[in-house]
Amino acid sequence: MSQALRDARAYEEEKELLIRPEERPAFHLGARVGWMNDPNGFSWYKGQYHLFYQYHPYDSHWGPMHWGHAVSGDLLRWRYLPAAMAPDRPYDHAGCFSGSAIELPDGRHLLMYTGVAKEVQPDGSMRDVQTQNLAFGDGVNYEKYPQNPVITAAGLPEGGSRFDFRDPKLWREPDGSYRAVMANDAARGGGQMLLYRSADALRWEFDHVLAENHDRIGRMWECPDLFELDGYQVLLGSSQDMLPKGFEYHNGNGTFYFLGHIDPETGRFVEESNHAVDYGIDFYAPQTILTPDGRRVMIGWMQNWDTCNLHTPSTPWFGQMSLPRELSVENGVLYQRPVRELEALRHDKAEYGRVTVENEEIELGGVSGRMIDMEVEIEPVGEEYDKFSVFFAKNEDYHTGVSFRPHESTLKIDRKFSGSRRAIIHQRRAKVRHEGGRLKLRIILDRFSAEVFVNDGEKVLSAMLYTEPDADRVSFFADGKAAFRVTKYDLSLP
Ligand code: FRU
Repeated sequence: MSQALRDARAYEEEKELLIRPEERPAFHLGARVGWMNDPNGFSWYKGQYHLFYQYHPYDSHWGPMHWGHAVSGDLLRWRYLPAAMAPDRPYDHAGCFSGSAIELPDGRHLLMYTGVAKEVQPDGSMRDVQTQNLAFGDGVNYEKYPQNPVITAAGLPEGGSRFDFRDPKLWREPDGSYRAVMANDAARGGGQMLLYRSADALRWEFDHVLAENHDRIGRMWECPDLFELDGYQVLLGSSQDMLPKGFEYHNGNGTFYFLGHIDPETGRFVEESNHAVDYGIDFYAPQTILTPDGRRVMIGWMQNWDTCNLHTPSTPWFGQMSLPRELSVENGVLYQRPVRELEALRHDKAEYGRVTVENEEIELGGVSGRMIDMEVEIEPVGEEYDKFSVFFAKNEDYHTGVSFRPHESTLKIDRKFSGSRRAIIHQRRAKVRHEGGRLKLRIILDRFSAEVFVNDGEKVLSAMLYTEPDADRVSFFADGKAAFRVTKYDLSLP
């Protein structure tokens, strides 16, 4: 093991003791200490889920990337393992960037990741060069492959940038061969997704360009994932520098999904539709897994690169993952629902059958808390109302909320009053489908986040918030007259 990895392991073990459990998210994975970004190596190995992450243990800001590591039996209760990789080789000394993991037929855990190396250019400038690399392990300790890098710029299609070439997601085909999809900056048109193939997971060759941006969705693309789901091929990606289009792609850096199929002749992705994956403020770089019981589950970094100035005020960690979400395609839309394992965390139910509210804000006995799972069904009473809001993480000084305006068919999440002292984006609106003002919401709060699932997962809005923990009230407001039903559970890890 390199000194760099030994140091990181010693450091995280010592420093995590400075963070009390109640200063961390309860059932979302956060950085063990320091900084976390993308989920990496999401896999099922030796009877548990493994989740690695982009990690800079020494600071709560981004720095030379390590891979942090955690395991879980239920995707909600995570246990940290020692950091899996440090940037300690010539080909990755500037960072072990994002990648993925699978189990090999011989029982070893294989990680494939992007190594970043600084290289002086002919004009004297310094640039980061990116290559793809392997590491083999037993679920705790990983050895980098002596023949790294296994994929370099040499095989790139013409014009493909060797400075932006990263985030391999690999899988094994039914015939035993391997594929990996990765992101690259094309000479023209921004990002492209490349498909590579290998017979043994060691020697890789470029196969073809899977999909191209053509300057439609942002510039460079990152963190691809490709899978089959409910009769479609789904391509996930995260895009940098997006321009908003209507209600899509407002996040600067944000996620997209394509639904389509693979052209059997060319192997290219034939896109039928594209949308944002999450319509809230904080969601990026998701990765999926096929669970042993056949569910496609996605987890993302619950953060936005542009709002990283919003920090926990006092604790030395930054960055958390979203809830793992079960995916399905229904009516041509990618649905996301919290993993069903979450239901085991529910207790202390409070339920209200049909409450009418008219031009007022009300609270309901037993409906409060900062770790809750709450379903709210809204419906009109007579005339359509103008607005219905649910506020949470609330006390005299603070609140965050979602507001639905049926005449506009929009749902807005707003954390302006969540306790932030930074002038950064605090709200986002999404178009939502409803019938005459009927809308269904499921709001999941953990200590530092809110995830709002609309109409059984048809859309999701996620945002992190660092409101003081005693701001735990919930209220309901209608401009006009509306009725709602609410079922709320407290959530905790037994
Ligand atoms: C996405 C990303 C990846 C890269 C990693 C670096 O958030 O930029 O493309 O591998 O983060 O930390």
